[in-house]
Amino acid sequence: MKTFKFNFYFLFLLTILVSGSCSLARRIQVHVINMLSSGFPMTLHCQSHDNDLGQSIVDDGEQVNWNFRVNFWGTTLFYCDVKWDSNNSYHFIAYDADRDHRRCRSECWWMISKEGLLYGYNQESEYWELVPFTNA
Ligand SMILES: *[C@@H]1O[C@H](CO)[C@@H](O)[C@H](O)[C@H]1NC(C)=O
Repeated sequence: MKTFKFNFYFLFLLTILVSGSCSLARRIQVHVINMLSSGFPMTLHCQSHDNDLGQSIVDDGEQVNWNFRVNFWGTTLFYCDVKWDSNNSYHFIAYDADRDHRRCRSECWWMISKEGLLYGYNQESEYWELVPFTNA
């Protein structure tokens, strides 16, 4: 009985360690590209629950990127505020482990198009998809 119990806890601990290091190994890179083709920069501010990336000025045709590891619980979420003139200020989820574990296996690409629309690249379908902005 004692041996059984020991083995049970040993396996339990081993499982936690293995699954923990697997999720820790998942590194994701996010890119946000200014494709407004307006000749003007856009202002981007992205953050997660515990990581504020600060505000960036992204020139026309340029991109901002960052990378992170998905947390052990798979609850990692980054959201961004983007603005390019006084009438255009939006919000979107740049990475949500729940939504994006297949869409963005290793990278999450976003672009703000000439029409001011948000497109996200889906690594699973290999298509750029139109994703609606959410209200800030
Ligand atoms: C914002 O919208 C107003 C009203 O439609 C317009 O007069 C103004 O030119 C717009 N500003 C920009 C920067 O597009």
